[in-house]
Amino acid sequence: TNPTLLILPGDGIGPEVMAEVRRIIDWFGAKRGLAFDVTEDLVGGAAYDVHGVPLSDETMAKAQEVDAVLLGAVGGPQYDTLDFSLKPERGLLRLRKEMDLFANLRPAQCFDALADFSSLKPEVVAGLDIMIVRELTSGVYFGEPRGIFEEGNERVGINTQRYTESEIDRVARAAFELAKKRAGKVCSMEKANVMESGILWREVVQKVHDESYPEVELSHMYADAGGMQLCRWPKQFDVIVTDNLFGDLLSDVAAMLTGSLGMLPSASLGAPMANGRPKALYEPVHGSAPDIAGQGKANPCACILSFAMALRYSFDQGDEATRLEKAVETVLADGVRTADLMQAEGGAPASTRQMGDAVLAALDAS
Ligand code: NAI
Ligand code: MG
Repeated sequence: TNPTLLILPGDGIGPEVMAEVRRIIDWFGAKRGLAFDVTEDLVGGAAYDVHGVPLSDETMAKAQEVDAVLLGAVGGPQYDTLDFSLKPERGLLRLRKEMDLFANLRPAQCFDALADFSSLKPEVVAGLDIMIVRELTSGVYFGEPRGIFEEGNERVGINTQRYTESEIDRVARAAFELAKKRAGKVCSMEKANVMESGILWREVVQKVHDESYPEVELSHMYADAGGMQLCRWPKQFDVIVTDNLFGDLLSDVAAMLTGSLGMLPSASLGAPMANGRPKALYEPVHGSAPDIAGQGKANPCACILSFAMALRYSFDQGDEATRLEKAVETVLADGVRTADLMQAEGGAPASTRQMGDAVLAALDAS
């Protein structure tokens, strides 16, 4: 039987970029014998408009059954006044929470043709390919006690950084598994010099390594030094694994090593299912971009590259993922640019559809 894929295009530019991905999925079925059973459904404002909720129970149940979920984007100004529990973002949060997606993967990959867009010197980023794995469901954003309390004659704001051994263990395993499909290196970042949770983090990551992944090269780094090294010499890294807070910061830093929001894919992984594949949700980093929605201007590459991640990390099709990434790279090298990838006087930009056409042509030629 074919692997199953649930597609949730969502709102704004979500359906526009997803339409290009659908054509690419069809291409892999027709030309590479890699057929998927695809179901499409609603999320976010689009689901609210039809069902009155941003994610229906039926859609949630489907997401739990499929091999991978591919999501476009959610949100839009017409939903801003909705009750908190009905907002489009709640649909996405429900998926993440009920699928228990504890590992957030943010790659920073530099396409040479876009090296000018980096915040760093082109030679520092050319050929860059790193993956940040951020723990997503625990840590200081969730730990108790939290709140603003009275203390003497003033108030105190409190958050608690809290990690259990099993929470560290499972995200470490996710990082080591990824490294095995990549360059075989993991760098774990924490602040074991000043934080108890950091001491435990380092100890557990080392133990998982020694017991289960001795073939992967493991190093440890303080997260602040890690931030410096990401800007100084990012190519030293393959996989970086870190907690929720540090991962939030470091993945945003890493994103700007490589340029436009329109190019950035992501994945969130959970525990392995019965078939051995992890629960998985793939989505571009960008949102629904209401300012350009409906105009055919959106760059579909972030969503296309999210599907490439699905090929590699959910379906063990690393070679086909590389084929797709190379097709995107070829198109960029040929100078095809959506508006977000152009400098001020760049000439006429490619439309979303033209970018999709160009990627399909590059796939045909591959
Ligand atoms: P955004 O990512 O939608 O847009 C930020 C800027 O980048 C805009 O100028 C937009 O035109 C541009 N941009 C984004 N993606 C692009 C693409 N593929 N091609 C070309 N240009 C692109 O973030 P913003 O404006 O803060 O939020 C807009 C809506 O999206 C809000 O409702 C927000 O809540 C939602 N959102 C949803 C996310 C998700 O679904 N995961 C993530 C971030 C925001
Ligand atoms: Mg952030």
